[in-house]
Amino acid sequence: MQDKLKELEYKKQQALLGGGLKRIEAQHKKGKLTARERIHFLLDEGSFQEIGMFVTHRATDFEMDKEKYLGDGVVTGYGTINGRLVYVFSQDFTVFGGSLSEAHAEKICKIMDLAMKNGAPVIGLNDSGGARIQEGVVSLAGYADIFYRNVKASGVVPQISAIMGPCAGGAVYSPAMTDFILMVEHTSYMFVTGPNVVKTVTHENVTAEELGGAHTHATKSGVTHFACANEIEALNTIKQLLSYIPQNCEEKPPRIPYEMGDELRPALNNIIPPSSSQPYDMHDVIQQVIDEDSFLEIHKDFAQNIIVGFARLAGRSIGIVANQPAVLAGVLDIHSSIKAARFVRFCDAFNIPLLVFEDVPGFLPGTDQEWNGIISNGAKLLFAFAESTVPRVTVITRKAYGGAYDVMNSKHIGADINFAWPTAEIAVMGAKGAAEIIFKDEIAQAKDKEAKWKEKENQYNELFANPYKAAERGYIDEVIVPEETRIKLIRAFEMLENKVDSMPKKKHNNIPL
Ligand code: HXC
Repeated sequence: MQDKLKELEYKKQQALLGGGLKRIEAQHKKGKLTARERIHFLLDEGSFQEIGMFVTHRATDFEMDKEKYLGDGVVTGYGTINGRLVYVFSQDFTVFGGSLSEAHAEKICKIMDLAMKNGAPVIGLNDSGGARIQEGVVSLAGYADIFYRNVKASGVVPQISAIMGPCAGGAVYSPAMTDFILMVEHTSYMFVTGPNVVKTVTHENVTAEELGGAHTHATKSGVTHFACANEIEALNTIKQLLSYIPQNCEEKPPRIPYEMGDELRPALNNIIPPSSSQPYDMHDVIQQVIDEDSFLEIHKDFAQNIIVGFARLAGRSIGIVANQPAVLAGVLDIHSSIKAARFVRFCDAFNIPLLVFEDVPGFLPGTDQEWNGIISNGAKLLFAFAESTVPRVTVITRKAYGGAYDVMNSKHIGADINFAWPTAEIAVMGAKGAAEIIFKDEIAQAKDKEAKWKEKENQYNELFANPYKAAERGYIDEVIVPEETRIKLIRAFEMLENKVDSMPKKKHNNIPL
């Protein structure tokens, strides 16, 4: 028996070494943790249970049978984060650059299958040189097996991808199909074709960092939801993210105990500036309304004219979508519509109630927007709200103009409770533009055109730049004093706690992608 135990122990020690001490040192020199160190920081102490520690590849070409490492470049298993079950795979760059072999892919598929059957999130820590070049098509098949499971698991269990090294070529499409991507500044990159191919094809000179680094994807493409300063920050962000999310689509999100106190927030009465063309920061509204320090902003640096993120309200997990008047006047454009639509769909898939703060002057005009498809892209957000069956509440703080009024979780597309502040302006368009169109002749014939225009603008404002016309119709359920917003929202979401709603039976809808 002693010999057998020694053999087992020896094998375990071999597996723990991955590609060996030299390569571990090289990994550390790049400012990167090893696959196992990452798991250690991510999971609750001592909770990790490894699966497939002794798996090796089966390749024989290029004398590969002479070079085998236990685990074959990926550490897989399950454990807990804050006591809740998660499945993890962590690619080991010290073994063939974390490249994906047939066996490596099988290990990932195994934990994805377990995650789906047992209803818990899958976390992928990616650090890989892509397809195992020595294995050829077998490796491509492995990727496809993972892609297929990404899609099957989508909307069943949350899937989170942290990119902690290279992620290039077709390999990017697994993270791309998961719910959230986190990248680490300066040590990770994602692109379909690297700088060399780009130079050959388009003659552009670009570094890997510029082409597909964390900053690029956090600001320009929106591919990553988080750009983290280092790996520890990324791992902590995963833990934080999971704290708002249920284990699977059958569960409600976690709720933390909360004792009601003074829920009035007088500071909210002073946020809206005197002139409706002046900006203000919607973050100030969000911070006043939610539980202290509970906001986790998603896509913080991308399409900043809309804000999305998770928060808690009296301990309940909620998803917030808010126009941001401080950026582009809070206008809806292609990027902000896509950003918000994806977030709304995630929340709906995982039973997270939605709260919308609205101050939107409409959709962004221009050839750039029209030619790039603001029609079909703007429709994504409209579609996403309209199809969602979770509790939905809207607060109109100021402008709700034109089609954007309909889109931003209006009563008409299924919102449950719609509040407006007395400062709300719910109209087809701004008063100045409206006056110019409907009183065109009168203004043209007036001696003092400017004065006439102003008079008509004021007239339109008086009639429409308020919440009362909408409240008369019941499109707004209640016009509330801003300081009461928090308590009103707490009560509304409490009332909606057991909401049951569904879409008509169908195979699936056909959202304008
Ligand atoms: C096998 C690989 C590998 C790969 C790296 N290695 N990539 N082995 N298959 N894809 C090995 C190296 O031989 C080396 O082995 C070790 O990993 C570390 O690699 P280095 O090059 O020394 O590291 P570094 O300088 O940090 O560069 C990392 C890298 C580079 C940028 C990822 O290795 C690289 O360009 N690799 C090839 C990337 C690639 O073309 N992959 C296929 C893409 S196509 P030793 O023994 O020296 O430690 C693809 C298709 C997916 O992925 C399709 C899905 C649909």
